[in-house]
Amino acid sequence: MKVLTATLVLLLFIVLFQGCLAASYKSDESDKKEKSDKPEKSDESEKSDKAEKTDKSEKSDKSDKSDKSDKSVPYDYSANIECEKEPPKPLYGGGILTDAEAPAPVATGGKKLLMAKTTSAPVKGSTLKFELEKDTHYALSAWLQFSKSTGDVRAVLVTPDGKFNTAGMIVVQSGCWTMLKGGATSFSAGKGELFFETNVTAELMADSMALQPFTFEEWKLHRDESITKERKKKVKITVQGSDGKELPDAELSLERVAKGFPLGNAMTKEILDMPEYEKWFTSRFTVATMENEMKWDSTEYDKGHELYEIPDKMLALAEKYKISVRGHNAWSGLSVAQLKEAMAKRMKSVVSRYAGKLIHWDVVNENLHFSFFEDKLGKDASGEVFKEVAKLDDKPILFMNEYNTIEEPNDGAPLPTKYLAKLKQIQSYPGNSKLKYGIGLESHFAIPNIPYVRGSLDTLAQAKVPIWLTEIDVIKGPKQVEYLEELMREGFAHPGVKGIVLWAAWHAKGCYVMCLTDNKFKNLPVGDVVDKLIAEWKDVPKDAKTDDKGVFEAELFHGEYNVTVKHKSLKELFMETVDLDSKSEATIKAKGKEY
Ligand SMILES: *[C@@H]1O[C@H](CO)[C@@H](O)[C@H](O)[C@H]1NC(C)=O
Ligand SMILES: *[C@@H]1O[C@H](CO)[C@@H](O)[C@H](O)[C@H]1NC(C)=O
Repeated sequence: MKVLTATLVLLLFIVLFQGCLAASYKSDESDKKEKSDKPEKSDESEKSDKAEKTDKSEKSDKSDKSDKSDKSVPYDYSANIECEKEPPKPLYGGGILTDAEAPAPVATGGKKLLMAKTTSAPVKGSTLKFELEKDTHYALSAWLQFSKSTGDVRAVLVTPDGKFNTAGMIVVQSGCWTMLKGGATSFSAGKGELFFETNVTAELMADSMALQPFTFEEWKLHRDESITKERKKKVKITVQGSDGKELPDAELSLERVAKGFPLGNAMTKEILDMPEYEKWFTSRFTVATMENEMKWDSTEYDKGHELYEIPDKMLALAEKYKISVRGHNAWSGLSVAQLKEAMAKRMKSVVSRYAGKLIHWDVVNENLHFSFFEDKLGKDASGEVFKEVAKLDDKPILFMNEYNTIEEPNDGAPLPTKYLAKLKQIQSYPGNSKLKYGIGLESHFAIPNIPYVRGSLDTLAQAKVPIWLTEIDVIKGPKQVEYLEELMREGFAHPGVKGIVLWAAWHAKGCYVMCLTDNKFKNLPVGDVVDKLIAEWKDVPKDAKTDDKGVFEAELFHGEYNVTVKHKSLKELFMETVDLDSKSEATIKAKGKEY
């Protein structure tokens, strides 16, 4: 399971900037004439600049209201996980950073900006300054390089309310440029600042930086556009009578009955004895993860005596309802005494037992935080265990499962760049190149940084393996419901995310951090929001009718549908199941009693 979001006490050398930003890193544009005098900005020019900006933002405020949708900049999902010799162009042409106030340019000129210079002692320097809007998400991107050495760099966006938001953290190298993607939300209007922090004693160069504002409405609009693109498809249903003639004006009612975007929840053994629990769970979810029942310490808590009765029964129950099961987890939750031999035995035992029956295995769990196995068994221990699991069962996608990668930019251990480096190491272990991999993100949230979540998903998606939010929950608080909805929508809309599993396993004695129901299986507000999303994500057009050619066309969520046909030539309703996931066209022959 998880260790709750460890609050990290960060002792940062606030690295300060001796340095220096070139006035603008976007090429001059005629409409930005005020930029040319930036490098020598005096107090006075700063003032007049500010006045200008206030003007500008007022103007854009006004025009914004009326024609938001056609003016909004599309969100850029691209990211780059290579260390590049030259930094590519900034996203969004740099966004509002093209107007940022900056200190004097670097002596060497060009567009490369010296953002920080640390020697043995922290050095004071300066930051980029700009105006921020209220209730606005800011997407940040930047290319970074050290003059020597390698280490973590944190981007900090100071919002007008004085809050220091970690907008992203990344491993930066020397000799090539690495892309950081992240962001933060501003809930107030006024001056904002951006700076970087690092403990590495070197010069930190930045290039192709961009900070792009999106109103909350724009952010939602991008999500909706992405949902239409990623989760729906245009389908065409032709309805014919038993004679093969098209039936115009047939009334159709559609219901999605299978497939579609996988949405699941954690399940506990109590489900075996409680019909109301069984009914509640199986009527909602298409995926299940056993909370603890498949773990090593559950199946072999008495060393040498394996007990699989409970997980066997839970699996059979899931199968009965065509619910897919994620294997959680092959390898973790062990005492120090259990070592290599025990491990090999465990792999054989659990993986072979459920071979062919699971869609996923969480092969290594939370291993970016706890390197117990790597420490004991060598640096390739994870690569070996992936290979071993694949040998015993070639059906499931094999996952790393980790917390804080998208939840907590201040946790240096599981950063997206480190996650990808570990995945690459596992993939390059001899014999592992052809295995099916997955990126498991536990997603245990407190207060989410939504732009950071999306930016991190963009980065992780570059590995081109399916991403699942494997254990999503939000701690109790006044905004629990709102945050959960927002996060589930982010996951559902993101092109890289292929499934979501909630971590809301029901126990009579209480849930881990989030319960969807009370003890009578009556939904709590969090459960209601989950149900609302389930309904929304399989919503179908009302009043569906075939045209005069007997054809009905629509944009539907992926899935398998039961289509019921009502037509004046038919005595009874006719129902057929059509798979609109693998195909986008179907012909229904409404056989049966006709008038
Ligand atoms: C700098 O070092 C401190 C102390 O080890 C650590 O807590 C902090 O996260 C480091 N900062 C960065 C940006 O790596
Ligand atoms: C969908 O249709 C099939 C027959 O084609 C039927 O067995 C099944 O019960 C239907 N499902 C629902 C939810 O109506």
